Amino acid sequence: KLFLLGTSTTILALGTHQVIKKLQSSNNNFSNKSYALNSQNIISSQNGLLETTLEASYQEVPLGNQNAYLLTYNGQVPGPRLEAKPGDKVRIHFVNNLSQSTNLHYHGLHLPPTGKGDNVFLEVKPKEKFTYEFDIPTKQTGGINWYHPHLHGLVAEQLSGGLAGLFIIRDQLDEIPEIKAAKEEFLVLQDFFLDENGNLLPSNQMPLMMGREGNVITVNGEVNPSFSMPENGLLRLRIVNASTSRFYNLSLEDHPFYLIANDGTTLEQPIELSEILLTPGERIEVLIKGDKNPQSYQLVSLPYNRGSMGMMGRGRMGGGMMGRGRDNIENNGPIPLATINYENSVSPLNLPTELMPISPLPKPQTTRQFSLNHGMSPGVGMAFLINGEAYQPNTVQTQVKLNTVEEWEVINTGVMDHPFHVHTNKFQVISRNGVPNAYPTWKDTILVRRGETVRIRIPFEDFTGKTVYHCHILDHEDLGMMGSLLINS
Ligand code: C2O
Ligand code: CU
Ligand code: CU
Repeated sequence: KLFLLGTSTTILALGTHQVIKKLQSSNNNFSNKSYALNSQNIISSQNGLLETTLEASYQEVPLGNQNAYLLTYNGQVPGPRLEAKPGDKVRIHFVNNLSQSTNLHYHGLHLPPTGKGDNVFLEVKPKEKFTYEFDIPTKQTGGINWYHPHLHGLVAEQLSGGLAGLFIIRDQLDEIPEIKAAKEEFLVLQDFFLDENGNLLPSNQMPLMMGREGNVITVNGEVNPSFSMPENGLLRLRIVNASTSRFYNLSLEDHPFYLIANDGTTLEQPIELSEILLTPGERIEVLIKGDKNPQSYQLVSLPYNRGSMGMMGRGRMGGGMMGRGRDNIENNGPIPLATINYENSVSPLNLPTELMPISPLPKPQTTRQFSLNHGMSPGVGMAFLINGEAYQPNTVQTQVKLNTVEEWEVINTGVMDHPFHVHTNKFQVISRNGVPNAYPTWKDTILVRRGETVRIRIPFEDFTGKTVYHCHILDHEDLGMMGSLLINS
């Protein structure tokens, strides 16, 4: 027996035999606590200290034109926006009111991966509390970072339920006069797979091979919200892809973007682009320059094909709706994300010409290869693999030395695209398929398309201990596409 959910962009088929492994099931923690539900909820550091409680719980929240039952931080989707400066102390009193274990990861922040820092090996059980405590390093550059759960095996499920929030570092970038003058807007892109009553449905993708995608796409918990162009004609959009698996191929249709930063780090100069592919985990900052004549722009996601399971998917799913529908993950488009309107006529300022310098890293001491694919893994069955292995919690896949620079060659030998992410230390992108990267850039997540080889260079600085690298299609991460990385002193 099948029931169908039709949306403007996808037709999804779902077998009723699939048991909904609901976080909100029976033993329930549904709490009626009322939080101030305000999308502008910002928690900033005061006198060098960012201290707050973050509580994960299952709540009814407004989402687009309906109410939905989601996983929230402090009752909100997305969670509150945290803001701090380099050198600040951070103390987060984390409370787990979900019915399963979870934890927090600070994606993009340069922090110790151990103890009370950005420790993804830590498990906070239901009803337990944990206080995260760390300093934002003075070398952390200003930009967009974000927090989300990171307990291996549950990451996709919890993130797709809504658990994600921004963690903004304010710094010199915000002081560049044109950028300071621009109107700042944050856009957290999330998708949810919901029934008509706003309940989370399990992913229909057997067995989550392509990674789950939702049928409701939201920006800051709203469907196609509007932003207004300021009178000075400079709008600064700061965007995070907080979806579990969905790629957004961003475009303003006939109007250009000026890319000024990505993954929490500023570029040297603005780069004019008409399309920007934003894969899960990645962030961008763009300036949009208004026209003299008032108009409106539609931010959309254009079609993009991120691969397929090919023969395997077709064979196992037995054809029909599921086989055909999900064989290729191709987002039809354009999907509207946000509208930019003019309230007044504008006299556009000029764009900045120089942003922040990026010094190239020295030659690497070591070069390694990481090949990404899926296949059979002994004792695990079908899994997602790095160098032929699925993640195993008690082994260390890669060991490096503190204060060295390494070059990693990330090779995608599979049939679908994988955004590769490294915790703790950012990297510079050297080349893609042997072609040098068009401009110097720091990143922490980089798309490696099927058949591609991407070279990155990583400095291991400041922190020792065990951390991880993984695919940011979080179903792939949960299904094994992760490695642990031990940084030795
Ligand atoms: Cu945003 Cu290890 O993840
Ligand atoms: Cu991360
Ligand atoms: Cu992947």
